[in-house]
Amino acid sequence: MNLPQTYKALELREYSENRNRAVLVEKKFRPLKKGEVLIRIHSASINPSDLMFLRGLYGIKKKLPVVPGFEASGVVVASGGGLYGNYLKGKNVACTAPGRGDGVYAEYMITDAFSCLSIGSQLSLEQGACLYVNPITAIAMVEQAQKYGAKALVQTAAASALGKMVVGIAAKKGMKVINVVRKPEQEAALKAIGAEHILNSEASNFERQLRVLSNELKATVCLDAVAGELTTKVLLAMPYGSRCIVYGALSEKEIPLHAGMLIFQDKKLEGFWLSTWVPQQSPYKIWKLSGELRALAKKELKTDIAAKFPLEKAVEAIEDYAANMTRGKVLIQPPFAEGK
Ligand SMILES: NC(=O)c1ccc[n+]([C@@H]2O[C@H](COP(=O)([O-])OP(=O)(O)OC[C@H]3O[C@@H](n4cnc5c(N)ncnc54)[C@H](OP(=O)(O)O)[C@@H]3O)[C@@H](O)[C@H]2O)c1
Repeated sequence: MNLPQTYKALELREYSENRNRAVLVEKKFRPLKKGEVLIRIHSASINPSDLMFLRGLYGIKKKLPVVPGFEASGVVVASGGGLYGNYLKGKNVACTAPGRGDGVYAEYMITDAFSCLSIGSQLSLEQGACLYVNPITAIAMVEQAQKYGAKALVQTAAASALGKMVVGIAAKKGMKVINVVRKPEQEAALKAIGAEHILNSEASNFERQLRVLSNELKATVCLDAVAGELTTKVLLAMPYGSRCIVYGALSEKEIPLHAGMLIFQDKKLEGFWLSTWVPQQSPYKIWKLSGELRALAKKELKTDIAAKFPLEKAVEAIEDYAANMTRGKVLIQPPFAEGK
Protein backbone atom coordinates (compact mmCIF):
# COMPACT_ATOMS: atom_id res chain seq x y z
CA MET A 1 0.00 0.00 0.00
CA ASN A 2 1.19 3.51 -0.81
CA LEU A 3 1.28 5.64 2.32
CA PRO A 4 0.28 9.31 2.24
CA GLN A 5 2.94 11.94 3.09
CA THR A 6 1.29 12.76 6.42
CA TYR A 7 -1.58 11.52 8.59
CA LYS A 8 -4.07 13.09 10.99
CA ALA A 9 -3.88 12.52 14.73
CA LEU A 10 -5.27 13.96 17.94
CA GLU A 11 -2.36 15.35 19.96
CA LEU A 12 -2.46 15.86 23.72
CA ARG A 13 -0.58 19.03 24.72
CA GLU A 14 -1.20 19.07 28.49
CA TYR A 15 -2.52 16.70 31.12
CA SER A 16 -5.61 18.52 32.42
CA GLU A 17 -9.42 18.81 32.43
CA ASN A 18 -9.09 21.66 29.91
CA ARG A 19 -11.20 21.11 26.76
CA ASN A 20 -8.37 22.51 24.62
CA ARG A 21 -5.80 20.05 26.01
CA ALA A 22 -5.83 18.10 22.70
CA VAL A 23 -5.87 19.29 19.07
CA LEU A 24 -5.96 17.65 15.65
CA VAL A 25 -2.55 17.77 13.88
CA GLU A 26 -0.82 16.40 10.77
CA LYS A 27 2.07 14.04 11.57
CA LYS A 28 4.89 12.54 9.51
CA PHE A 29 5.58 8.80 9.48
CA ARG A 30 8.75 7.61 11.23
CA PRO A 31 10.68 4.51 10.05
CA LEU A 32 9.65 1.22 11.67
CA LYS A 33 12.05 -0.63 13.97
CA LYS A 34 12.37 -4.42 13.94
CA GLY A 35 9.42 -5.96 15.78
CA GLU A 36 7.15 -2.98 15.12
CA VAL A 37 4.15 -2.81 12.79
CA LEU A 38 2.27 0.11 11.24
CA ILE A 39 -1.51 -0.12 11.68
CA ARG A 40 -4.09 1.78 9.67
CA ILE A 41 -6.62 2.48 12.40
CA HIS A 42 -10.26 1.60 11.70
CA SER A 43 -11.90 2.18 15.12
CA ALA A 44 -10.47 3.37 18.41
CA SER A 45 -12.30 2.85 21.69
CA ILE A 46 -12.54 5.15 24.69
CA ASN A 47 -12.15 3.52 28.09
CA PRO A 48 -12.09 4.87 31.66
CA SER A 49 -8.27 4.50 31.51
CA ASP A 50 -8.17 6.98 28.58
CA LEU A 51 -10.19 9.53 30.59
CA MET A 52 -7.75 9.17 33.51
CA PHE A 53 -4.74 9.35 31.16
CA LEU A 54 -5.94 12.64 29.60
CA ARG A 55 -6.17 14.11 33.12
CA GLY A 56 -2.69 12.85 34.06
CA LEU A 57 -4.12 10.48 36.68
CA TYR A 58 -3.37 7.10 35.06
CA GLY A 59 -0.61 4.60 35.89
CA ILE A 60 1.13 5.54 32.62
CA LYS A 61 2.23 9.13 31.93
CA LYS A 62 3.83 9.69 28.51
CA LYS A 63 6.12 12.52 27.42
CA LEU A 64 4.05 15.32 25.82
CA PRO A 65 2.94 16.10 23.18
CA VAL A 66 1.57 12.63 22.49
CA VAL A 67 -1.33 10.97 20.68
CA PRO A 68 -3.64 9.51 23.38
CA GLY A 69 -5.78 6.35 23.21
CA PHE A 70 -4.81 2.83 24.27
CA GLU A 71 -7.01 0.43 22.30
CA ALA A 72 -8.13 0.09 18.67
CA SER A 73 -8.55 -2.12 15.64
CA GLY A 74 -7.20 -1.79 12.14
CA VAL A 75 -5.19 -3.41 9.38
CA VAL A 76 -1.44 -3.99 9.55
CA VAL A 77 -0.05 -2.17 6.50
CA ALA A 78 3.69 -2.51 7.13
CA SER A 79 6.11 -4.52 9.26
CA GLY A 80 9.55 -3.49 10.50
CA GLY A 81 10.62 -7.13 10.29
CA GLY A 82 10.46 -10.08 12.64
CA LEU A 83 8.49 -13.29 12.21
CA TYR A 84 5.27 -12.24 13.94
CA GLY A 85 5.16 -8.71 12.46
CA ASN A 86 5.64 -10.10 8.95
CA TYR A 87 2.90 -12.68 9.58
CA LEU A 88 0.47 -9.90 10.60
CA LYS A 89 0.95 -7.88 7.40
CA GLY A 90 -2.41 -7.39 5.66
CA LYS A 91 -4.36 -8.83 8.62
CA ASN A 92 -7.18 -7.29 10.65
CA VAL A 93 -6.01 -6.83 14.22
CA ALA A 94 -7.13 -5.73 17.66
CA CYS A 95 -4.25 -3.72 19.09
CA THR A 96 -3.00 -1.64 21.97
CA ALA A 97 -0.72 1.38 21.97
CA PRO A 98 2.94 1.10 23.00
CA GLY A 99 3.85 2.01 26.60
CA ARG A 100 5.81 4.96 25.23
CA GLY A 101 4.96 7.16 22.25
CA ASP A 102 1.84 7.79 20.22
CA GLY A 103 -1.47 6.00 20.77
CA VAL A 104 -4.54 5.12 18.74
CA TYR A 105 -6.53 8.36 18.25
CA ALA A 106 -5.03 8.77 14.78
CA GLU A 107 -5.22 7.51 11.21
CA TYR A 108 -2.11 5.36 11.75
CA MET A 109 -0.20 3.99 14.74
CA ILE A 110 3.11 2.19 15.20
CA THR A 111 3.15 -0.47 17.91
CA ASP A 112 4.95 -3.65 18.92
CA ALA A 113 3.73 -6.63 16.85
CA PHE A 114 3.09 -8.51 20.10
CA SER A 115 0.55 -5.81 21.07
CA CYS A 116 -1.62 -7.00 18.15
CA LEU A 117 -4.05 -9.88 17.96
CA SER A 118 -5.15 -11.16 14.56
CA ILE A 119 -8.98 -11.16 14.60
CA GLY A 120 -9.70 -12.78 11.24
CA SER A 121 -12.39 -11.54 8.88
CA GLN A 122 -15.44 -12.92 10.73
CA LEU A 123 -15.42 -10.32 13.50
CA SER A 124 -16.21 -6.67 12.71
CA LEU A 125 -13.40 -4.18 13.19
CA GLU A 126 -15.75 -2.23 15.49
CA GLN A 127 -15.99 -5.19 17.89
CA GLY A 128 -12.26 -5.74 17.34
CA ALA A 129 -11.62 -2.26 18.78
CA CYS A 130 -12.96 -3.50 22.13
CA LEU A 131 -11.50 -7.03 22.11
CA TYR A 132 -8.24 -6.48 23.94
CA VAL A 133 -8.34 -4.50 27.20
CA ASN A 134 -11.68 -5.42 28.79
CA PRO A 135 -11.99 -9.03 27.53
CA ILE A 136 -8.47 -10.06 28.61
CA THR A 137 -8.93 -8.37 31.99
CA ALA A 138 -12.28 -10.09 32.53
CA ILE A 139 -10.94 -13.54 31.56
CA ALA A 140 -7.79 -13.12 33.67
CA MET A 141 -9.67 -11.99 36.77
CA VAL A 142 -12.31 -14.75 36.60
CA GLU A 143 -9.48 -17.29 36.24
CA GLN A 144 -7.75 -15.74 39.25
CA ALA A 145 -10.96 -16.00 41.29
CA GLN A 146 -11.19 -19.69 40.37
CA LYS A 147 -7.58 -20.20 41.47
CA TYR A 148 -8.57 -18.69 44.82
CA GLY A 149 -11.26 -21.36 45.04
CA ALA A 150 -14.26 -19.03 44.76
CA LYS A 151 -17.56 -20.80 44.09
CA ALA A 152 -19.19 -17.48 43.19
CA LEU A 153 -18.20 -13.85 42.61
CA VAL A 154 -19.30 -10.40 43.67
CA GLN A 155 -18.61 -7.57 41.22
CA THR A 156 -19.12 -3.81 41.48
CA ALA A 157 -19.89 -1.43 38.55
CA ALA A 158 -21.41 -4.60 37.12
CA ALA A 159 -23.22 -2.91 34.21
CA SER A 160 -19.93 -1.72 32.68
CA ALA A 161 -18.75 -3.28 29.40
CA LEU A 162 -16.27 -5.37 31.39
CA GLY A 163 -18.87 -6.28 34.03
CA LYS A 164 -21.16 -7.71 31.35
CA MET A 165 -18.23 -9.80 30.06
CA VAL A 166 -17.65 -11.17 33.58
CA VAL A 167 -21.34 -12.22 33.66
CA GLY A 168 -20.88 -14.14 30.37
CA ILE A 169 -17.54 -15.76 31.23
CA ALA A 170 -18.62 -16.79 34.74
CA ALA A 171 -21.86 -18.31 33.40
CA LYS A 172 -19.83 -20.43 30.97
CA LYS A 173 -17.75 -21.70 33.90
CA GLY A 174 -20.83 -22.37 36.03
CA MET A 175 -19.96 -19.62 38.54
CA LYS A 176 -22.71 -17.46 40.03
CA VAL A 177 -22.19 -13.68 40.12
CA ILE A 178 -23.66 -11.13 42.52
CA ASN A 179 -23.80 -7.94 40.45
CA VAL A 180 -23.64 -4.64 42.32
CA VAL A 181 -24.88 -1.52 40.49
CA ARG A 182 -26.06 1.93 41.57
CA LYS A 183 -28.92 2.81 39.17
CA PRO A 184 -32.22 1.10 38.14
CA GLU A 185 -31.31 1.30 34.42
CA GLN A 186 -28.16 -0.69 35.20
CA GLU A 187 -30.28 -3.38 36.87
CA ALA A 188 -32.39 -3.53 33.68
CA ALA A 189 -29.31 -3.74 31.43
CA LEU A 190 -28.00 -6.70 33.40
CA LYS A 191 -31.38 -8.48 33.49
CA ALA A 192 -31.46 -8.15 29.70
CA ILE A 193 -28.27 -10.23 29.39
CA GLY A 194 -29.57 -12.88 31.78
CA ALA A 195 -27.83 -11.84 35.02
CA GLU A 196 -29.54 -13.58 37.95
CA HIS A 197 -28.38 -11.75 41.08
CA ILE A 198 -28.41 -7.94 41.00
CA LEU A 199 -28.14 -5.65 44.03
CA ASN A 200 -28.37 -1.88 44.07
CA SER A 201 -25.78 -0.34 46.41
CA GLU A 202 -28.11 2.64 46.99
CA ALA A 203 -30.82 0.45 48.56
CA SER A 204 -31.21 0.87 52.34
CA ASN A 205 -30.83 -2.88 53.01
CA PHE A 206 -27.94 -3.37 50.51
CA GLU A 207 -25.36 -4.59 53.02
CA ARG A 208 -27.76 -7.07 54.63
CA GLN A 209 -28.85 -8.41 51.22
CA LEU A 210 -25.21 -8.82 50.19
CA ARG A 211 -24.29 -10.54 53.48
CA VAL A 212 -27.08 -13.11 53.12
CA LEU A 213 -26.57 -13.77 49.39
CA SER A 214 -22.76 -13.93 49.42
CA ASN A 215 -22.85 -16.42 52.32
CA GLU A 216 -25.51 -18.51 50.61
CA LEU A 217 -23.61 -18.63 47.28
CA LYS A 218 -20.14 -18.82 48.91
CA ALA A 219 -19.04 -15.75 46.96
CA THR A 220 -15.56 -15.26 48.39
CA VAL A 221 -13.96 -13.08 45.69
CA CYS A 222 -15.04 -9.58 44.70
CA LEU A 223 -13.94 -7.89 41.47
CA ASP A 224 -14.09 -4.19 42.31
CA ALA A 225 -13.89 -1.29 39.84
CA VAL A 226 -15.23 1.43 42.13
CA ALA A 227 -12.93 1.68 45.21
CA GLY A 228 -13.73 4.12 48.05
CA GLU A 229 -16.27 3.24 50.75
CA LEU A 230 -18.09 0.74 48.54
CA THR A 231 -15.06 -1.60 48.58
CA THR A 232 -15.04 -1.68 52.38
CA LYS A 233 -18.83 -2.11 52.62
CA VAL A 234 -18.76 -5.02 50.17
CA LEU A 235 -15.75 -6.78 51.68
CA LEU A 236 -17.18 -6.41 55.19
CA ALA A 237 -20.44 -8.06 54.08
CA MET A 238 -18.74 -11.00 52.34
CA PRO A 239 -17.95 -14.33 54.07
CA TYR A 240 -14.95 -14.90 56.41
CA GLY A 241 -11.64 -15.06 54.46
CA SER A 242 -12.98 -13.26 51.36
CA ARG A 243 -10.74 -11.35 49.01
CA CYS A 244 -11.29 -8.22 46.95
CA ILE A 245 -9.42 -7.66 43.68
CA VAL A 246 -9.46 -3.90 42.98
CA TYR A 247 -9.00 -3.23 39.27
CA GLY A 248 -10.56 0.22 38.87
CA ALA A 249 -11.08 3.39 40.87
CA LEU A 250 -14.19 4.87 39.27
CA SER A 251 -15.12 6.70 42.50
CA GLU A 252 -11.64 8.27 42.58
CA LYS A 253 -11.81 7.80 46.37
CA GLU A 254 -9.49 6.15 48.87
CA ILE A 255 -10.50 2.83 50.43
CA PRO A 256 -11.02 3.14 54.21
CA LEU A 257 -9.55 0.01 55.81
CA HIS A 258 -10.68 -1.51 59.09
CA ALA A 259 -7.86 -3.40 60.80
CA GLY A 260 -10.39 -5.81 62.36
CA MET A 261 -11.56 -6.81 58.91
CA LEU A 262 -8.02 -7.94 58.06
CA ILE A 263 -7.17 -9.44 61.45
CA PHE A 264 -10.37 -11.06 62.73
CA GLN A 265 -12.15 -11.75 59.43
CA ASP A 266 -9.02 -12.71 57.41
CA LYS A 267 -10.18 -10.45 54.54
CA LYS A 268 -7.66 -9.56 51.81
CA LEU A 269 -7.33 -6.67 49.41
CA GLU A 270 -5.21 -6.75 46.25
CA GLY A 271 -4.93 -5.06 42.84
CA PHE A 272 -5.01 -6.14 39.20
CA TRP A 273 -3.52 -4.26 36.23
CA LEU A 274 -3.49 -5.70 32.71
CA SER A 275 -0.25 -3.85 31.92
CA THR A 276 1.62 -5.91 34.51
CA TRP A 277 -0.37 -9.13 33.99
CA VAL A 278 0.28 -9.55 30.22
CA PRO A 279 4.13 -9.46 30.39
CA GLN A 280 4.02 -12.11 33.15
CA GLN A 281 2.28 -14.64 30.87
CA SER A 282 4.02 -17.27 28.74
CA PRO A 283 3.75 -17.09 24.92
CA TYR A 284 1.66 -20.31 25.12
CA LYS A 285 -0.80 -18.67 27.53
CA ILE A 286 -1.17 -15.62 25.25
CA TRP A 287 -1.69 -17.88 22.23
CA LYS A 288 -4.37 -19.86 24.12
CA LEU A 289 -5.99 -16.63 25.26
CA SER A 290 -6.20 -15.24 21.72
CA GLY A 291 -8.13 -18.38 20.68
CA GLU A 292 -10.48 -17.91 23.63
CA LEU A 293 -11.04 -14.24 22.70
CA ARG A 294 -11.97 -15.14 19.14
CA ALA A 295 -14.28 -17.95 20.31
CA LEU A 296 -16.18 -15.76 22.79
CA ALA A 297 -16.05 -12.47 20.83
CA LYS A 298 -19.52 -12.59 19.35
CA LYS A 299 -21.44 -13.44 22.51
CA GLU A 300 -19.82 -13.42 25.96
CA LEU A 301 -17.29 -10.70 25.05
CA LYS A 302 -19.55 -8.62 22.80
CA THR A 303 -19.40 -4.89 23.53
CA ASP A 304 -22.38 -2.55 23.07
CA ILE A 305 -21.40 0.33 20.79
CA ALA A 306 -23.39 3.47 21.68
CA ALA A 307 -21.96 5.97 19.17
CA LYS A 308 -19.29 6.57 16.54
CA PHE A 309 -17.53 9.88 15.87
CA PRO A 310 -15.12 10.82 13.09
CA LEU A 311 -11.50 11.50 14.16
CA GLU A 312 -12.09 15.24 13.60
CA LYS A 313 -14.68 15.10 16.41
CA ALA A 314 -12.52 13.09 18.83
CA VAL A 315 -12.86 15.71 21.59
CA GLU A 316 -16.69 15.54 21.35
CA ALA A 317 -16.49 11.72 21.30
CA ILE A 318 -14.54 11.71 24.58
CA GLU A 319 -17.06 14.09 26.19
CA ASP A 320 -20.00 12.04 24.91
CA TYR A 321 -18.56 8.83 26.40
CA ALA A 322 -17.73 10.44 29.75
CA ALA A 323 -21.29 11.81 30.06
CA ASN A 324 -22.90 8.33 30.03
CA MET A 325 -20.64 5.33 30.26
CA THR A 326 -23.34 2.71 30.93
CA ARG A 327 -24.94 3.31 27.50
CA GLY A 328 -22.00 1.60 25.73
CA LYS A 329 -18.68 2.36 24.10
CA VAL A 330 -18.05 5.38 21.89
CA LEU A 331 -15.71 4.77 18.96
CA ILE A 332 -13.43 7.27 17.24
CA GLN A 333 -13.18 6.46 13.54
CA PRO A 334 -10.75 7.82 10.93
CA PRO A 335 -12.03 7.99 7.30
CA PHE A 336 -10.81 4.36 6.78
CA ALA A 337 -13.95 3.20 8.66
CA GLU A 338 -16.11 4.85 5.99
CA GLY A 339 -14.25 2.96 3.29
CA LYS A 340 -12.14 6.01 2.31
N1 LIG B 1 -6.98 -2.84 35.91
C1 LIG B 1 -7.07 -3.11 34.62
O1 LIG B 1 -6.15 -3.68 34.02
C2 LIG B 1 -8.32 -2.74 33.88
C3 LIG B 1 -8.50 -3.16 32.54
C4 LIG B 1 -9.71 -2.84 31.91
C5 LIG B 1 -10.69 -2.07 32.59
N2 LIG B 1 -10.43 -1.66 33.86
C6 LIG B 1 -11.43 -0.90 34.63
O2 LIG B 1 -12.67 -1.56 34.50
C7 LIG B 1 -13.70 -0.63 34.81
C8 LIG B 1 -14.83 -0.78 33.79
O3 LIG B 1 -14.33 -0.39 32.50
P1 LIG B 1 -15.34 -0.40 31.26
O4 LIG B 1 -14.60 0.02 30.05
O5 LIG B 1 -16.06 -1.68 31.26
O6 LIG B 1 -16.33 0.75 31.72
P2 LIG B 1 -17.62 1.33 31.00
O7 LIG B 1 -18.24 0.33 30.10
O8 LIG B 1 -17.31 2.66 30.47
O9 LIG B 1 -18.63 1.51 32.23
C9 LIG B 1 -18.28 2.17 33.41
C10 LIG B 1 -19.40 1.87 34.40
O10 LIG B 1 -19.02 2.27 35.69
C11 LIG B 1 -20.08 2.99 36.30
N3 LIG B 1 -19.53 3.94 37.25
C12 LIG B 1 -18.81 5.05 37.00
N4 LIG B 1 -18.46 5.66 38.15
C13 LIG B 1 -18.98 4.90 39.14
C14 LIG B 1 -18.96 5.01 40.56
N5 LIG B 1 -18.34 6.01 41.19
N6 LIG B 1 -19.62 4.06 41.28
C15 LIG B 1 -20.25 3.04 40.67
N7 LIG B 1 -20.31 2.89 39.33
C16 LIG B 1 -19.67 3.81 38.58
C17 LIG B 1 -20.79 3.66 35.13
O11 LIG B 1 -22.11 3.92 35.46
P3 LIG B 1 -22.74 5.33 35.86
O12 LIG B 1 -23.71 5.64 34.77
O13 LIG B 1 -23.42 5.01 37.16
O14 LIG B 1 -21.63 6.33 35.99
C18 LIG B 1 -20.69 2.57 34.07
O15 LIG B 1 -21.75 1.64 34.20
C19 LIG B 1 -13.02 0.75 34.83
O16 LIG B 1 -12.77 1.13 36.15
C20 LIG B 1 -11.70 0.49 34.12
O17 LIG B 1 -10.70 1.40 34.48
C21 LIG B 1 -9.27 -1.97 34.50
